[in-house]
Amino acid sequence: MLRRVLCTMLLVGALPSLAEGSQGHISVVLLGATGDLAKKYLWQGLFQLYIDQVSSGHSFTFHGAALTDLELGQKLMFDVLKKLSCPPDESPNRCAVLKDQFLKLSQYHQLKTAENYTALNREIGILLHQEGLKEAGRIFYFSVPPFAYTEIARHINSSCRPPPGAWLRVVLEKPFGHDLESAQQMAAELTSFFREEEMYRVDHYLGKQAVAHILPFRDQNCQFLDPIWNRHHVERVEVVLKETVDAKGRTSFYEQYGVIRDVLQNHLTEALMFLTMELPGNLSKAEEVLQCKLQALQSLRGLEKQSVVLGQYQAYASHVQEELQKGQNYVSTTPTFAGVLVHSDSLRWEGVPFLLTSGKALDERVGYVRVLFKNRAYCTQSEALRDAGHSQCKPKQIVFYIGHGVLNTPAVLVSRNLFRPIMPKSNWREVVGQPDLHIFGQPLSDYYVYSPVKERDAYSVLISNIYHGRKDFFITTENLLASWAFWTPLLNSISHQAPRLYPGGVENQHYLDFEMVSGELAFTVAEPVELLNPSGPMPSDYKTIQSKFRKSPLVSAWSEVLISQLASDVEKTASRAVARSGQFHLALSGGSSPVALFQRLARHHYDFPWRHTHLWLVDERCVPLTDPESNFFSLHNHLLQNIRVPYFNVHPMPVHLHQRLCVEEDGGTELYAKEIVALVANASFDLVLLGVGTDGHTASLFPHSENGLEGAQAVVLTESPVKPHQRMSLSLPLINKAQQVFVLVMGKGKHDITTQISRVGREPRKWPISGVSPSSGQLVWYVDYEALLG
Ligand SMILES: *[C@@H]1O[C@H](CO)[C@@H](O)[C@H](O)[C@H]1NC(C)=O
Ligand SMILES: *[C@@H]1O[C@H](CO)[C@@H](O)[C@H](O)[C@H]1NC(C)=O
Ligand SMILES: *[C@@H]1O[C@H](CO)[C@@H](O)[C@H](O)[C@H]1NC(C)=O
Ligand SMILES: *[C@@H]1O[C@H](CO)[C@@H](O)[C@H](O)[C@H]1NC(C)=O
Repeated sequence: MLRRVLCTMLLVGALPSLAEGSQGHISVVLLGATGDLAKKYLWQGLFQLYIDQVSSGHSFTFHGAALTDLELGQKLMFDVLKKLSCPPDESPNRCAVLKDQFLKLSQYHQLKTAENYTALNREIGILLHQEGLKEAGRIFYFSVPPFAYTEIARHINSSCRPPPGAWLRVVLEKPFGHDLESAQQMAAELTSFFREEEMYRVDHYLGKQAVAHILPFRDQNCQFLDPIWNRHHVERVEVVLKETVDAKGRTSFYEQYGVIRDVLQNHLTEALMFLTMELPGNLSKAEEVLQCKLQALQSLRGLEKQSVVLGQYQAYASHVQEELQKGQNYVSTTPTFAGVLVHSDSLRWEGVPFLLTSGKALDERVGYVRVLFKNRAYCTQSEALRDAGHSQCKPKQIVFYIGHGVLNTPAVLVSRNLFRPIMPKSNWREVVGQPDLHIFGQPLSDYYVYSPVKERDAYSVLISNIYHGRKDFFITTENLLASWAFWTPLLNSISHQAPRLYPGGVENQHYLDFEMVSGELAFTVAEPVELLNPSGPMPSDYKTIQSKFRKSPLVSAWSEVLISQLASDVEKTASRAVARSGQFHLALSGGSSPVALFQRLARHHYDFPWRHTHLWLVDERCVPLTDPESNFFSLHNHLLQNIRVPYFNVHPMPVHLHQRLCVEEDGGTELYAKEIVALVANASFDLVLLGVGTDGHTASLFPHSENGLEGAQAVVLTESPVKPHQRMSLSLPLINKAQQVFVLVMGKGKHDITTQISRVGREPRKWPISGVSPSSGQLVWYVDYEALLG
């Protein structure tokens, strides 16, 4: 076959531009050459690459490949190639010549078996040998479904690597996994075939001109932006991709992914990172850009269920039923709309809300990244006068307009009351006119507006970046995993949450508007009754149950209600203690149950007397305080960093002394006991918060523990049956001196132990929790329905 192509080439004269290959030859292999993406964008992008680089000194051949046999594949591929269009900025004559050459340099291959790959490798070698060309590199573009990746990767690694001295670049298309675990698995597989620098994972948003210009814009305008690109000046950031289409025809993909995996985890997160990352010293250094971006990703604060609002297009369920042959009773909880409130813990952005939103079947198609600045001016003049000029009282914003919408072109907009931006004249031109157009509530004339001189499709931009080896326009393995690490906990926590149904298009009206309320997101209008799922009473309809457990008061409810009740009870106890003694001594347990309580306290209890609160630890693991296993670390993450408690009121357990952990001679337990005696009147805490383990342990007092269940010692070292084994804990006698003890028990996993201890008497050696019985204080049980009822 190759001979035939070469013959034809020789007949029409020399291979069109192989003669130019003094810099070496580049072979581009497009796998999935007859698929949708290839038809729509990739061949056009490769043609653009050829047009742009024909005189670069490199010579090119383009190899389309698919599973289809030679004859049919060839026909399908050339049907696509014949329809390639000339870019509007190219002269028709030159373009026609170039297109002719491009077709001659393109060839179809069946790539199905190992032999087929070996044959391709051989053919490339023979061609270069005959033409006397040196090989510069090979690009393999995977435009195939992910399940085919491993097989293809194995073949390329084993038989299609270019000879030493030439580079290999493999280009991968999303989805890159479904959650952190699957992404890790996939990454591990690919890593066994390709080196990190060989892999180019595409997020086509990074090729959108407005997105690709965010970093250069920040760099070129740093004199204006440096003082204002931070939490003191930025009111909020919106990253938005609205679509009018629905998921019809794609439900087999969509039903597994949903809007967050489809768009937010990748496109919107990437765009946000360009905006929030620190600027590297040199934008041309891909490693520096990637490093800064990774840091920005890693400084995002973890998301919770309350960070998100979800919607589902009303007709989506019927599309799923139809396309996936599901019965009428099939219920899908896959969201087609999401709004997510993201925060960064970086010093630059702490407290600034980043809103990420996308949805299908919305009222318009538009994408943008919008930075809205705080307005600090008070303007004395009348509104009429104010509106005439570019007053400081008007909104101040910078918008990277990705496309569609009222502007219908990529653009960069800067409010005129901010600054006149510096834009590279060769690529961006100022847009004037269209005075009637309004954007984000302001006439277009209120902005400096720039649009690209040449509009380029994202894939053309990316293909050019692959050619230039600009890895900063692609997703590295570390970047990918960091993004999944950020999104996966949220995805898990909402997997069964019923999204709000919406009618679609303009009929959505205000149903999908949402707002930030004390750090959470909520729809602004109540759910329209006729759209509600009639699936019985929701958990929150139940009130808390009040009764007795082990002869002490019991509060029980679904977990969220329980936590909010517990949080208010803690606050009441705190206020009473402060009113009585000017101080509140609170001892907190580790483990996962109190995390929700900490978050609730930090977010909703603004009156909490933190200034007068002393925080103590009930128990600690013998690890450094900065270890994620440390109870103090968790307390810091979920509570301390979000409240204003004086540093000297915080009392971590001294597990780390003399550069070693929990060694008896170091006297950590005595030290803590002394501190308690010195600060807490009668060593009697105002409130001790405890949990219960499935074996009946509480604090770090385990069944049959030699220490801490009785005796005079206030603080003890103990051994846990699970890692990390060594612990420090308050003793049972000290706990029982407290004025109040709250025991929090949550989750199905605690049902058996809850049942067990409801029946037993006081047997602390078997079940340490049964020994909790304040001598003169009060004990209250907070047990959620799952733990209580199973
Ligand atoms: C691909 O390999 C198979 C089996 O090795 C072979 O039958 C087929 O002819 C090859 N295709 C081409 C186009 O050479
Ligand atoms: C990739 O190719 C190299 C060199 O042929 C080989 O040593 C290695 O085992 C291959 N990797 C895998 C996972 O097959
Ligand atoms: C930035 O990095 C590029 C590529 O490494 C280099 O050519 C350029 O000189 C650097 N610029 C500065 C200002 O250091
Ligand atoms: C400390 O204990 C003593 C004796 O039990 C008691 O009289 C006193 O009120 C207690 N002090 C406080 C502050 O609770």
